[in-house]
Amino acid sequence: MILKIVKYPEPVLERPGEPVTEFNDELRNLIADMFETTYASQGIGLAAPQVGVSKRVTVIDLSMGKDPAQKLALVNPEIIVSEGRQYEEEGCLSFPDIREKVVRAAKVRIRAQDENGKWFEMDGEELLARAFQHEIDHLDGVLFIFRMSALKRSLSLRRVRKMQSEGSW
Ligand code: NI
Repeated sequence: MILKIVKYPEPVLERPGEPVTEFNDELRNLIADMFETTYASQGIGLAAPQVGVSKRVTVIDLSMGKDPAQKLALVNPEIIVSEGRQYEEEGCLSFPDIREKVVRAAKVRIRAQDENGKWFEMDGEELLARAFQHEIDHLDGVLFIFRMSALKRSLSLRRVRKMQSEGSW
């Protein structure tokens, strides 16, 4: 089922998600729906708060549905190692049409549970590292505009307000 993606400034986006403690069908259905919603929006990742669910769950698929081996569901994820620096453009499904460069670590190692509760670790660099950091930020209520420079943030928020006033947000 395709879920509705909430846009900035919905308060749920800035609220830290609750840790997941039950690995049941409800969780697995949420994850399946989040993948479907990501693909329908042509995104590469989505966090549960973006569909109005304040839980520490995120999905990432850099292949956008083309390669099942790249589907990643992360439950209760955390970054355990980060190194280096990258400065690349990012977007967010809760900020349609806003793309700006954001500073991120170049490489990260994460630790997370899968949809059955099994813990695993995984390394990511470049785009995958950025996706890990962007999505895990969402679970802490941190949006990518807060990772931008003050100037880029104010320009982005001005564009958001303009789209809101035009009814295109
Ligand atoms: Ni996002």
